[in-house]
This record gives sequence, structure tokens and C-alpha cells, in this order.
Amino acid sequence: MAGFSFAQGRAFGDGVELRDIAARAGTPVYVYSAAVIRERYQLLDRAFTRHPHRLHYAIKANATTAVAALLRELGAGADANSGGEIEVALRAGFAPGDVVFTGVGKTRDDLTRAISLGVAAINAESPGEVGRIAEIAAALRTTARIAVRVNPDVEAGSHPHISTGHRSTKFGMSPADAAALMRDVAGRGSLEPVGLHVHVGSQITRTEPLAQGARVIADLARALAADGIAIEHLDIGGGLGIAYEPGERVVDVEDYAEAILRAIEPSALTLVLEPGRWIVGPAGVLLTSVVDMKSQADSATFVVVDAGMTDLLRPALYGAWHEIQAAERRDGAPLRADIVGPVCETSDTLGRDRTLPPTEVGDLLLIRDVGAYGSVMASNYNRRPSAAEVLIDGDAWRVIRRRQTIADLLQWDE
Ligand code: LLP
Repeated sequence: MAGFSFAQGRAFGDGVELRDIAARAGTPVYVYSAAVIRERYQLLDRAFTRHPHRLHYAIKANATTAVAALLRELGAGADANSGGEIEVALRAGFAPGDVVFTGVGKTRDDLTRAISLGVAAINAESPGEVGRIAEIAAALRTTARIAVRVNPDVEAGSHPHISTGHRSTKFGMSPADAAALMRDVAGRGSLEPVGLHVHVGSQITRTEPLAQGARVIADLARALAADGIAIEHLDIGGGLGIAYEPGERVVDVEDYAEAILRAIEPSALTLVLEPGRWIVGPAGVLLTSVVDMKSQADSATFVVVDAGMTDLLRPALYGAWHEIQAAERRDGAPLRADIVGPVCETSDTLGRDRTLPPTEVGDLLLIRDVGAYGSVMASNYNRRPSAAEVLIDGDAWRVIRRRQTIADLLQWDE
């Protein structure tokens, strides 16, 4: 069976016992299932079958080269959000023509690289940026393909940190300003207007904000076409949420596709999507070992593990909830505890008031649904080296990113 499951009280990832991976690769370690990634990519892709579409995997969700390469093998394009992510895409084997380049504050160096590579589209954020792109493209005697990012002014209803579609945020331009900018793009010899882009936020659990974003750019495309500006695609970004808590209600992928297609089908333009979390989120767990336990009067019981906010920032940054399970289920009275990391601040809490089976120092825990925005948001705070990453594919597994060493960290210090 694809994915993470228990058999006789022991945790497996696809066919592989997770304890064996931890014993050989050490902890903390991120473990991903290739089978889950394949399955989810194909489910999403199939939901859009009836309309020409392209899934550009949002590399930011999990930027480990082997994960990006797996998505490329499945037929995905890539969405890169920085010069670094463009290089990941190239190393993962994506052709430049399969990469869209997004991001607020693209530097001149990043733009020069993207333009000379000839990426599929630069999702442009402002008139200033379009001016810089035009200048660079002209100097390179080439043309740059532009999709202007529209801010549709919708409430994504997600955590405020990751809601990006409201007019108060730094992202994109109002539909009216975006239309004016597209006319400007169409008038410049070194630029080609190829699309419109929108991304209303991430971990969205209702269809409506996503559909609304799609409607806004579809309407805008129609208005531009009436002005003689014909584009190729509508890029609706990512944002589809996943269930982190048992029973959490999220959007069904078929309903998502239906709502989006209803919004964009009349345009007959190619649909581009930039999914990240929905594909890779449930495909990853973080394995961590218990290093200490403490229990005092007037305070919670603490299970201290070797992973912390430096490995998985989501709980500290967004108050995000991730399921935490023991890799081996022991009989006996359950333990209620806060599961905390080793970092020097109280925000380093991975799970509050959780139930575990009887637990001892040395036990292995799994933190679930960390395939997206887990390893990519790691830091070296407290001079902590980042975790190893492992990919299970069928019965085999391999390290796809080796654990950093203290020597790795110190090599940059002059
Ligand atoms: N496209 C653009 C332009 C984006 O900014 C993002 C995510 C995506 C696509 C992919 O969105 P997804 O399908 O993964 O929701 N660190 C946060 C999430 C930040 C998302 C940023 N942008 C977290 O841990 O929840």
C-alpha cells in the first residue's frame, strides 16, 4: 500500500519499516514516498483532463533535487520562486521552457538568468519589474515571455501569513493596473505577453477563493483579447489545502477542478497550475528520536526530541498542527505530553498536549504531512545541521540529501 501506515503496531513507509531507515540514516530524517507523490500528481492531473493544462510543480514546497526530478519524470513543469529554485529545476532536468519564474523582488541577476535561459513565463509583479525585464531582454537581443500577476482582492481564508490574494498584500497588481501593464508589455519589442497569473494563497480549504482568482484572470483575458492582445495561458497558482488534522475538511480535488474549469473554460486558454503542498505534503514524514523526558508538578510532561523548529518551522511560525505518532505502538497507559525540540526557545514546540503510547528515551516518533514546507524551511539556528532526506521508491530507499555536518556549517565562516 502506498504511503505511511502501521502493521502490527510498527510504522512503514510503503513497504519499508521506518525504524530501519532511522537506524541507518540517523535522526532527524525526512522520509518521502515516491508512490504517494506519483499517486497525487496523477489524481490532480486527471481531474483536469478535459481541458489543456500544465501542472508546474511549485519547487518551493520541496526543493530537494530528487523530488523535483520525480515530478519532472511524471510530466510536470516547474514553478521557481528564486534564482536558486531555477537552478534546482535545471539540475532536476526541467527544460527552461518548462519553468515559470515567480516572485516578489526578483533581482537583476535572477532576471538575467531567467531571460537568457528563455523560461516559459516570468510572472511579473510590477511596472518597475517589467521595465527591468524589457531592458535586460533588449540588451540580450531576445524577447522575454511575460505573465502579469493579478491581485484579485479575495480573502483566501487561510492563515494570514500565507494568504496572498488580498489587495493589502505585496503580491501582484489590481486587475485594472494589470490590464494597463499588459498593454504596455504588448507594445514593447523585447517583451511578449503570454499569460496572466494569480495565486490567492496556500492551504486553502474552500473552493470559492480559488475559483474567484481564476474568474478574475479569465475576465481580464477576455478584455485584453477584445483589445487585440491574445495570450496563451491562465496561471492560477497553487493553494489547494490538505487535511492535517484527522477529519479536517478540505476541498475535494474533483470539486476544485470543476470550479476552476468552469471559470476558465470559456476562454479556451491553456490552464497552468502551480501546485505544491497538495502533491508532496502528505508524501513526507519527519522521523525523530526521543532524547529526554521530563515531568514536573504544575507543568506538562515534556517529550524532548532531536528534531526542532530548525527542522520543522510550521508549528512555531503558523501554529500549524501536525500529527505525531510513535513508530512502535506499545501497550500500556497512554502518555499525554508536549513534544518539544532542543532549541533555546519556547516556540520550539512541535505538538502540544498530544497522546502517545508509553514512551522511553530512544523511541522513534513520526511527524506526519511534512513533505511540503518542511525541509525547505529548515534553518541552522543554534548551529544545528539540517536533517537528512530519504526517498522510498518501491521496496528500496536512498538518501537524496545527506545530513549536514558541523563542518559543512563552519566552512563558510572566514
Ligand atoms: N505559486 C505561488 C506563486 C506561490 O507563492 C505558492 C506558495 C505556490 C504556487 C504553491 O502553493 P501550494 O500549492 O503549495 O499551496 N510556508 C507556508 C506555505 C507558503 C506558500 C507560499 N507560496 C506553509 O508552510 O504553510
